[in-house]
This record gives sequence, structure tokens and C-alpha cells, in this order.
Amino acid sequence: METHKAHCLIFPYPMQGHINPMLQFAKRLQHRGTKITLATTKFVFKTLHEVSGSITVETISDGFDEGENGVAVDTYYATFQKVGSETITELILKLKDSGYPVDCIVYDAVLPWALRVAKSLGLRAAVFFTQSCAVNKIYYHVYTGLLKLPLEESKVEIPGLPPLSASDLPSFISSYGSYPPIFQLVTHDQMKNIHEADSIIYNTFYKLEEEVIDWTSRILPIMTIGPTIPSMYLDKRLQDDKQYGLSLFNPMTNACMPWLNERSTSSVVYISFGSIAEVDAEQMEEVAWGLRTSNYYFLWVVRESESNKLPKDLVKEISDRGLVSSWCPQLEVLAHKSIGCFITHCGWNSTLEALSLGVPMVVMPRWTDQSTNAKFVTDIWKTGIKARSDENGIVRRDVIRQCISVVMEGEKGQEIRKNADKWKDLARHAFDEGGSSDKNIKDFVSKLIQS
Ligand code: UDX
Repeated sequence: METHKAHCLIFPYPMQGHINPMLQFAKRLQHRGTKITLATTKFVFKTLHEVSGSITVETISDGFDEGENGVAVDTYYATFQKVGSETITELILKLKDSGYPVDCIVYDAVLPWALRVAKSLGLRAAVFFTQSCAVNKIYYHVYTGLLKLPLEESKVEIPGLPPLSASDLPSFISSYGSYPPIFQLVTHDQMKNIHEADSIIYNTFYKLEEEVIDWTSRILPIMTIGPTIPSMYLDKRLQDDKQYGLSLFNPMTNACMPWLNERSTSSVVYISFGSIAEVDAEQMEEVAWGLRTSNYYFLWVVRESESNKLPKDLVKEISDRGLVSSWCPQLEVLAHKSIGCFITHCGWNSTLEALSLGVPMVVMPRWTDQSTNAKFVTDIWKTGIKARSDENGIVRRDVIRQCISVVMEGEKGQEIRKNADKWKDLARHAFDEGGSSDKNIKDFVSKLIQS
């Protein structure tokens, strides 16, 4: 008879940047002998193009089974909380009835009501923060009232962090008042019951954010488990994670891989602004001109929903040097020897992925946590440079061209590459058997088994 394995229900917010890291964490738990079920919404499930065959996926309703297009963010959150609390409870009871009782819910920090569900059913609750420790520290500082808003000073001092100017802070803080529901969620709702969670999981690694992790650990018993990157990308000898390549809402295409295979080492610029940021037509045109004048090969991800803004004629003109793709297997791309630099919006996943794979960056943050991540890339980890925008918020073609040339050529580029290699090694150490993140994952699993 099969012995009872600890069973974790993984419950990410239904978005690419949240499902990706939580799915990878789930795989690490599975590798350590835990049974995993991933819960996602019925609508997102329809668009899950590829998910590892070894993970069971179950669906729940968030109240919007046909999608939430046009629904106000606060209405969506409130409905998800009401309907989701019921449907996830039903799922857990169903799993129990079919002989697979759940022991622990690993829930996304932006779904804080899942803690109540876990506690009401007598289960362990582990909260998973998908963003950096630095960003969470800033939000916690707002939550505790130590950082007063609107900002009174031009520089912000927070223990464990370098001095930050307003533009380095997450956009919900620097443009205080512009996104009230998200501001409320990140600086209040996701923090207020955190002390009741049995585990507080951060997708980062100790060496990467040592100082702020030490400061945070004085207040909260956090555990770092990152980088949540499939093992095969960190160590080519490991082939256990082949089926990575989750793609929501965008058709996955591997067409770029044979094209990259034909390019020489470090000759291609990869550009992507992640899964949600919208780039306006003027900015797209500047990117296209920057690529045209830089003369490097390029791979540019423009999501289907954004493609109508592409300057088609210009892109056609430079198509002998590049590919525009609606989506790509980003990790495979970043791990490819042909990639010389990554023009990125600095979403936390993209940032961690580039750091862990040693890829130099040109940072063009758009909103949310990206400005803070970008600040760390340029000033703390020193693995990239910033493409600065003008007074209208547009990064101009000359700036893009110049940033590409700084990173791809010259002395500064070499220094960045050296730093990128250093962080790649440190990420690998954290991840390897006995590394800081690996140890934390082992501890987490032993606690589950003992409970
Ligand atoms: C957003 C925020 O920007 C991010 O900081 C936050 O932590 C989560 O929500 P997103 O804009 O999607 O996320 O960016 P990012 O965090 O970088 O996540 C994108 C993910 O999609 C990455 O894992 C990346 O590898 C993947 N991706 C992106 C692909 O697999 N293919 C692509 O073509 C583009």
C-alpha cells in the first residue's frame, strides 16, 4: 500500500508571473517526495498550454469562468475572495474524499484570504511571496506606518536597503493614489495576517539580498527558496524538468530556437516586457529604431495583444536581422549561448532568471515592483545598465542603441559580464544540494511530514 505522502495544494494568483515561480517551487517539493496539486481558475486552465505532466492541476471558480475582461480590479478581488473561498474549500474536501487529504496550502501572498480557508480546515498555511525581499520590505514598511505616504522626502531610508529615491520605489508607492485596490492589497491585505502563517516563503536567495533578508528575518521568520528555475537550466546535466514552458494567453512558439542555434555566441539582443506590461506605439517604434541602428541580431517578444502597435514596415525592413515572436520559452532563450543581452522590464521572474543564467541586462522598468528591481540590477548587483526615459516617459532610440552597445561591447560590458557570472554561480550554489535555498526546502518538507 502506498504510504501517505505529505500533500501540498499550491494556489497561485492566476497570472503568468505568479504561476511560474510557484509551479517551480512545487516541482522542488515534489522532487523531495511531496504530493502536489496545483489549483487554478477554470478560465486560466483553458489557456495553460504546457504544464509539467507530473503535476496534477485542479480547477476552481473565481466567479469569472469566461474571463474577467473589463471587470474593475476591486470587484475582481472581492468576487474571487467570496467565490474562491468556497470553491477551494470544495476542492480540498473532494481531494480528502478521494483519498488524498491536503496537509498544507501554499498560497500566493496576494490571496491572503486563503489562510482563513486553511485554518478553518485545520491545515498548515504557507504564504508565498512572488516578489523580491526588498520590495516586500518596502511594502511592510508602509504597512507598519514607518514609511509615510505621500512621501515627504526625496530619499527614502529603510533598514537593510540602500537609500532609494522616489523613482526607485514600486509604482504603487511612487505614484501613490493611482492604483488604490492594488496599493491596499500589497501594503496592507497581504501583510495583515502574515504572522498567522506557518511558513513565509520568499522567492529569492540569501546571498542576493543578504542585508535586507537579515533585517526582515528579525521581524518575520521568512525562508528563501529561490531561484525558482528548473534545474536543467542551472545545471545542464540535470534533465528532470524538461517540460518547462508554461504559457498563458499567448501561443508558445519554439520557432526562435533553431534561429538562435545559427547565431554566434553573445550576438543576439533579447527583448521582452513580460506578460502584462503594455508598451505604447511610440515606445515600440523607438525600440525598433534602436534595434535598427544598433546592428545586432535581435529576438523581440511582442504579445499577441500588443502586436497591433508594432511599426510593421520598420520591423519588416530589419527582419533579416531579427525575429518578432508572440511568446518564447524564455528560460531556454536566456540559457542560449547566442544571447548577449536582455532588454527587460525587470519583472521579478525575468530579473531572477537573467541573474541566475548570467545574462547582462538593459533595464526598462514599466510599473509595479520593476523600478526597485531595476535599481538593484544597476547599482547593487551591477549586472546591467538603465535605459533612461525622457520627460515624456519614453526611452528614445539613441539611448537604446547606446545601452546595447555599452553592454555588448567595451570595458563596462566586460565588467557587467563578470558580475553576471558571479551571480550565476551564487544562484547555483543556493539551489544546489546543501545550498541555502535547498536546505530551506528540505526543512519545509520535514516539517510537513512531522506535522
Ligand atoms: C509581473 C511583475 O512584473 C513581476 O515583477 C511580479 O513579480 C509578477 O507579475 P510579469 O510582468 O509577467 O510579472 O514579468 P515577470 O515577473 O518577468 O514574469 C514573466 C514570466 O514569463 C517569466 O517567468 C518569463 O520567463 C516568462 N516568459 C516571458 C516566457 O516564458 N516567455 C516570454 O516570451 C516572456
